[in-house]
Amino acid sequence: MRRYVAAIDQGTTSSRCIVFDHQGRIAGVAQREHEQIFPKPGWVEHDPETIWRNTEFVIAEALRGCGIGPAEVAAVGVTNQRETTVVWDRATGRPVYNAIVWQDTRTAELTEQLAGDQGPNRYADRTGLPLSTYFAGPKLRWILDNVPGARARAEAGELCFGTMDSWVLWKLTGLHITDVTNASRTMLMDLRTLQWDPRICADFGVPMSMLPEIRSSSEVYADITHGALAGVPVAGILGDQQAATFGQACLSPGDTKNTYGTGNFMLMNTGATPVFSEHGLLTTVCYRLGDQPAVYALEGSIAVTGSLVQWLRDNLGIISSAADIEPLARTVADNGGAYIVPAFSGLFAPRWRPDARGVVAGLTRFVNRGHLARAVLEATAFQTREVIDAMRADSEAQHLDVEKVTLKVDGGMVVNELLMQFQADILDAPVVRPVVTETTALGAAYAAGLAVGYWSSTDDIRANWSEDKRWLPAMSAAERDHLVHEWNKAVDRTYNWVE
Ligand code: G3P
Repeated sequence: MRRYVAAIDQGTTSSRCIVFDHQGRIAGVAQREHEQIFPKPGWVEHDPETIWRNTEFVIAEALRGCGIGPAEVAAVGVTNQRETTVVWDRATGRPVYNAIVWQDTRTAELTEQLAGDQGPNRYADRTGLPLSTYFAGPKLRWILDNVPGARARAEAGELCFGTMDSWVLWKLTGLHITDVTNASRTMLMDLRTLQWDPRICADFGVPMSMLPEIRSSSEVYADITHGALAGVPVAGILGDQQAATFGQACLSPGDTKNTYGTGNFMLMNTGATPVFSEHGLLTTVCYRLGDQPAVYALEGSIAVTGSLVQWLRDNLGIISSAADIEPLARTVADNGGAYIVPAFSGLFAPRWRPDARGVVAGLTRFVNRGHLARAVLEATAFQTREVIDAMRADSEAQHLDVEKVTLKVDGGMVVNELLMQFQADILDAPVVRPVVTETTALGAAYAAGLAVGYWSSTDDIRANWSEDKRWLPAMSAAERDHLVHEWNKAVDRTYNWVE
């Protein structure tokens, strides 16, 4: 038997390849960052060609690192930053414009126009999503409207649209496909039929010929045609947050994970029927294994968490590396009354306020660098608390027991013990970190490995998951309530900034 499964993780800041063994342990890893392009305030782009070159590079590096060739790899899974939108020429494979990143807010006016009199929830009953700059459909529409010649070429069938999974799959195999989880982030897919919705496509002015075929998250799509993994089947595709949910073995209704990346993304498995939120959460496809029924999730997406630490480092120079934030925050006992609300892209879940912009509130002469570092970390925990409150409210109606939720965490920030303890305190719930925190890549590997029989069932995923560390709430209710109250005052001050 081939000994490994590989995962390609095309993320917001970097592309990575990780090789896993049968126990879900990491055998090899390679990573390469790409440039964040900010042409104007609120705009965020990536160069798709650079991303593809980085992807090829990390595949070769990861295999070299563990001294194996393609004959040792049973399957490859692909996972990706979701919503980020590329349009390329079907004949030449050349992108017609940079990829427009999920954080980009250039479509604010467009989404308002699309909402019209019916408001931002115009398509929510079909797509599970509010009209927002976050999703791929409006970004695609922007490219068609603004790139010279794009609309005519799209209508002539010459252009392909894709999120980053489609772009990577196209490059690896020549197929133009996506999976149900990524398609569910476009606003163009009907959540129940799992097909493109012709009426929404017509409203958005998107020719359906440019859309990829929607496939399940776990099946053999095609063999890789060239490069270091030539001949190995690609057999899994999952948007990165869904992949992390799968990799965290959140396989039963009520199971919940929170990923601390550039943003935070909490997903709760809600089982085989979509649950529609009344409290600002998204309904999304969690995964679909082959021809089994789709499994859905409720999601709370927070745009800015880890990227606030980067901002403190890169824009303010208060720390020189991200790891410095914890020791700096530990130089003080509390936030000194300071709160930072990082509404850099407006506010996502559960508030959905495109008009919001970031604030630092509660400043006095007393506040120092340590307090600001603490306020940065606490912003992540407070935003997460808002999302879990929304999940508690939604799931009460659906009889999903999140009162007793244990939050499984992963992502870069979970090494930060001060943050994890504060998170447990502010949620009043246990927070649990698994041994393998690379759950995004692992989830994609599982999807691929299941499709080729490398793992025999999801029981293997449950068996591989193990706990590393658990943080229990230790804060008094009075202190927690006071901090949440102050946070809410700070959030109020972000509203109506963009007029
Ligand atoms: O929805 C955006 C999300 O998929 C991005 O994830 O980890 O690349 O920041 P990440």
